[in-house]
Amino acid sequence: MAPLPRRLVTERLDVLEPADPLAMGSRRDLVLVNRLMFAGPIAAGLLRRHVAAPPRRILEVGAGDGRFALHLAKRLAERWPGVEIVLLDRQDLVTAETRRAFAALGWLARPLAADVFALPGALGMGDPGFDCVFANLFLHHFEGDALRRLLRLLAQMAPVVIATEPHRDRASLLASRLLGLLGANAVTRHDAPASVRAGFCGRELSAQWEAPGFALHEARHGPFTQGFAAVREGGR
Ligand SMILES: C[S@@+](CC[C@H](N)C(=O)[O-])C[C@H]1O[C@@H](n2cnc3c(N)ncnc32)[C@H](O)[C@@H]1O
Repeated sequence: MAPLPRRLVTERLDVLEPADPLAMGSRRDLVLVNRLMFAGPIAAGLLRRHVAAPPRRILEVGAGDGRFALHLAKRLAERWPGVEIVLLDRQDLVTAETRRAFAALGWLARPLAADVFALPGALGMGDPGFDCVFANLFLHHFEGDALRRLLRLLAQMAPVVIATEPHRDRASLLASRLLGLLGANAVTRHDAPASVRAGFCGRELSAQWEAPGFALHEARHGPFTQGFAAVREGGR
């Protein structure tokens, strides 16, 4: 069967006010979506495999309300203590409660409300850099020049870039259309299939990567997730 063509449409969560009840409900649904995609164990596995030494600073781009990163921190904090994690999103969504939950694990969460393309300037002068940058359900918002520019930017930010994105195929699309049966709201019922249609398969992310000197790893992980890792050869 021919692969599903990639198609980007605006996701409703991206245009709603952060405090809109539909947006808040959809962000709650994202926790369930991430669980169904096994995104936490898959991303934690990629991080453990590709980040050679315990990191001191991690950047997440498109971090949303930080709950996905918190889930990762719970899986990683024992082996990786005392991490500072910068949670970049153009919406200011990370609550004090989430920051306290990071602190309870011994991690310092620093929310940063900025557009990803404002990096690295948005970090301020003298930022010491990152050991790793990751994205979950974020890269699929971009295509063409913007996606290539974003990947070039991430390559400048850290020696390891990890992404977990929707795997684009008919089975994922069907599963995303069934989320309503699990109680997902109207925004999620629109955005989940839209995200699958904008997702990746094969080596599509690797094909957009232009920064030299990185080893690329890209594969389907679990039923619904496209995993990507770019690791700078020779470390930093
Ligand atoms: C589908 S959500 C994923 C959130 C989180 N990573 C998770 O897995 O729960 C995508 C996030 O990307 C953010 N976003 C979209 N475009 C962005 C941009 N250009 N710069 C920064 N954040 C952006 C949105 O505000 C949204 O919070």
